[in-house]
Amino acid sequence: MLVLGIETSCDETAAAIVRDGCKIVSSVIASQIDTHQRFGGVVPELASREHLDKIVPIVEEAFEQAGIQVQEIDGIAVTVGPGLVGSLLVGVSYAKAMAFALNKPLVGVNHIEGHIYSVAFENSPIEHPALALVVSGGHTNLFFVPGPGKYKVVARTRDDAAGEAFDKVAKMLGLGYPGGPVIERLAREGNPRAVKFAVPRMGDGLPDFSFSGLKTAVAKHVRETGLQPVENGEKPGQGIKDLAASFQSVVVRSLVGTMERVAEDYRPKTVIVAGGVACNGALREASREAAKRLGVPVYFPSTHLSTDNAAMIAAAGTVRLQGGERAGLDLNADVTLRLQNIDVEDEARRRAGVRYRL
Ligand code: KG4
Ligand code: ZN
Repeated sequence: MLVLGIETSCDETAAAIVRDGCKIVSSVIASQIDTHQRFGGVVPELASREHLDKIVPIVEEAFEQAGIQVQEIDGIAVTVGPGLVGSLLVGVSYAKAMAFALNKPLVGVNHIEGHIYSVAFENSPIEHPALALVVSGGHTNLFFVPGPGKYKVVARTRDDAAGEAFDKVAKMLGLGYPGGPVIERLAREGNPRAVKFAVPRMGDGLPDFSFSGLKTAVAKHVRETGLQPVENGEKPGQGIKDLAASFQSVVVRSLVGTMERVAEDYRPKTVIVAGGVACNGALREASREAAKRLGVPVYFPSTHLSTDNAAMIAAAGTVRLQGGERAGLDLNADVTLRLQNIDVEDEARRRAGVRYRL
C-alpha cells in the first residue's frame, strides 16, 4: 500500500510517500527556521504563508523522488491537529483537493500519533502494551498504548512543553532558536551538577510534568549570579555551559523518572520516546538505562524522523486506511485535537484528584 503523507501543522512543510506503513519511498521537508529564527519562535501568520508557497512544490518533489505517478498512490494521510490553524488548513485543504481530484481515500491524522509512528521505520514492530513519551516543542505527553490506535494519556505537561522550555531558556541565554540542539551541544561541556534544580512534582501527586517553574528558576539563577547572556554570536562561557547542562539534566530526570515510575503500574512491553526533543542524546541515554532496568526494549526514531516530517503521518495514516477509516471532504483542522480514546472520564478523575490507574 502506497500512502502520501502531508504535514503542515507548525513550521515544516512536508510530504512523503510510504510503502506498507514502514518503508520510506520518499520524504521531503521544507523547514522555515530561517524565517522564524530572528523572532525567536514561530510566527503563525508567516508560517501559513510559507506553507502556501511550498505545499505544491514539496508534494511534487515527493513524487519525483519516489519516481511514481500521482495515480499510483492508494491513499492520502494529512495532519489535522493539533497545531496552528492557518498552517494546518493549508495541508488539509490541499489533501482534500488531491483526494477529490484523484478519487483516492483520505484520512486525517493526529500529529502526536504521527510522532509515535515515527519509530515504525527502523525498529521491530511495536509490542503492546507500550508506553510512549512524546516530547516536542508543542507537546509533552506520556501515553499508555494497550493496542494499535488506542491511547490513554498517563501524564502531560500542565504548562510549557519540554521543547518549549529548551527554546525559552536558550532565548533567555542569547543562544538563538531552536534551543534544544544548542543547549545539548553546550551541555556536553558543562557540569550537570553545577546548578541545583529540583525535579518539578505535582502537589496533588499526579504524574504530570511542569516546566514553566524551571524556566523561572533559570531566570532567577541568571539574575542572582549576574551571568551575562551570549551576545552577537560570541562564545558561551563556562557559566552558560554549566547552566545548560544542569537545565538539561533536570528536564531529562523529570521525563525519564516519570516514565519509569508509571511503567511500574502499566507494565509495558515496549517503551517509545519520540518528538523533536527525542533527538537529545542525554534523554536517549537516560531512557535506554531506564528501559534496561525495566527489562523492555526502547524505540527511538532516527534523528531526521524525530522532528516534524510527513513519513510519520503516512505511517500512522496507513494503519487507519488499512482499518477502513475514511475521511469525507468535510475533514477540518482541529487546533486542540487530543490523542486519547480510552478512559475519557479521566478529566473528572483528575478533578477528583484520583491517581491514573488502569
Ligand atoms: O517535533 P518538533 O519538530 O516540532 C513540534 O511538533 O513541536 O520539535 C521541535 C522541538 C523544539 O522545541 C526543539 O528545541 C526541540 O524539539 N529539539 C531538541 C533537540 N532537537 C530539537 N530539544 C532538546 N535537544 C535536542 N537535541
Ligand atoms: Zn511535532
